[in-house]
Amino acid sequence: MEFSCKTGAANAMKTACLVVGVFKSNKLPAGTEALDTALGGQIKKVLKKQDFSGDVGQTQLLYEPNDCAAARLLLVGLGEQKDFKPRQMGLAILPAFQLLENSGATDCIVVLPNDEGDDDTYRLVRETVAAANAAQYRFEQCKSTKTPAKRPLKRGTLIVAGRKQLASATRAVAHASAIATGTKLAKDLANLPGNICTPTYLAEEAQKLGRRSSKLKVSVLTEKQMERLGMGSLLSVSRGSRQPAKLIVFEYQGGKADAKPIALVGKGLTFDAGGISIKPAANMDEMKYDMCGGASVFGAIAACVEMELPINVVGVVPSSENLPDGDANKPGDIVTSMSGQTIEILNTDAEGRLILCDALTYTERFKPAAVIDIATLTGACIVALGDQASGLLANDDKLAGELLECGTASGDRAWQLPLWDEYQRQLDSNFADMQNIGGKGAGTITAACFLSRFTKAFKWAHLDIAGTAWLSGANKGATGRPVPLLTEFLLKRAKVSM
Ligand code: BES
Ligand code: MN
Ligand code: ZN
Repeated sequence: MEFSCKTGAANAMKTACLVVGVFKSNKLPAGTEALDTALGGQIKKVLKKQDFSGDVGQTQLLYEPNDCAAARLLLVGLGEQKDFKPRQMGLAILPAFQLLENSGATDCIVVLPNDEGDDDTYRLVRETVAAANAAQYRFEQCKSTKTPAKRPLKRGTLIVAGRKQLASATRAVAHASAIATGTKLAKDLANLPGNICTPTYLAEEAQKLGRRSSKLKVSVLTEKQMERLGMGSLLSVSRGSRQPAKLIVFEYQGGKADAKPIALVGKGLTFDAGGISIKPAANMDEMKYDMCGGASVFGAIAACVEMELPINVVGVVPSSENLPDGDANKPGDIVTSMSGQTIEILNTDAEGRLILCDALTYTERFKPAAVIDIATLTGACIVALGDQASGLLANDDKLAGELLECGTASGDRAWQLPLWDEYQRQLDSNFADMQNIGGKGAGTITAACFLSRFTKAFKWAHLDIAGTAWLSGANKGATGRPVPLLTEFLLKRAKVSM
């Protein structure tokens, strides 16, 4: 869906649907007030009927308003005026876009609810464009009959309050559209089943992404090459699978040749059955989503490419399956990682850290300015934070602070957990340098403690996205998180105006 921005009197604009916000208690944002005046008070007349309260996300569709060039007028509830923040815009307008998806309208005009003096235009536009794309998302690759929207929205126009807001609104459209491209890619890869989305499939998709830009180089390491590098931990996981592991490497060069890159390292477990420490059958299908960290790296790189961000970014995605097999890891096995540190595998289901540790060691060669790994790493993170926040742990407080801020700004939030030294003891092993599980308690923290032993060479943050990467139940599906958070961070590091 294409968006453009302009200023002007909304009542005179020809469109299939004019969309305007209404606060609770019949309070109108400036743009809606001006429209109501031009329409001789038609909006306030409707509000007097009290069918519409202005709760966040409430919608009221009116047809053929008088003295208006629009065929439809859609009122959208924005909640209490005093509580209104850009975040509410996304929540409020998503149902409106869903309604329009099922209507005959193929274009719409949205009047932004802020005043000429406000500086939140950029965020309001980002939220609006993100919501429009979310409402349009469908995953039908595996259905024999597709049911595309009959008349999907193709064009959206955003009315800003004043001319001096046009530049930031236009920038926001470009950024939001790129983030939507990345989010869609992450969702599509994640929603594919494990028999289609294998490590080899992911590697091929990475090569395809590489063809989108001359600034993006993609290479894929085979098991042979990983063996030569001494990736004994990663390869021990893949040994239990008939699908060969791949180490996918993106090198996006948008910045100066000698500028240190940001590295994103994403867990790409295309199916996690647990291995010999096999998982229970219920909901095991959802372990096709165990590659969502990797998918978010694809998405963030795709967004960089679309925005041509002036920054260098490296993406590393170790990809494997974790299955029970005669040749699979057994509890008690000891493997040697690329770093030389030995690991006693007490639970073969704690495999994410086993593939990530070698990928993190490999990442040292890029001399990164900072490394962020993203992984559906622990069920414990769902217990701690549910599906609202990703878990954040870091060996650098400044980096952690930046990511927390980016989470709040993008609405793709994270929450920090401690990485105190005292937790490291839980990984002591009688037989190797460390064991791969930390016993009862603090499962998300001990998983990060494990990774921290492979990240001493750089500033590093870890995002545990076990609770945020997909939704279960009736709305089962990938969320595309944390592509918005990662992209926000890259935009900030690239010092792009927002
Ligand atoms: N991929 C899982 C974590 C997971 C489980 C994410 C459920 C989302 C939903 C990971 O590989 C795993 O199995 N972790 C174990 C670690 C444990 C054995 C220490 C877990 O969380 O149970
Ligand atoms: Mn597992
Ligand atoms: Zn896993």
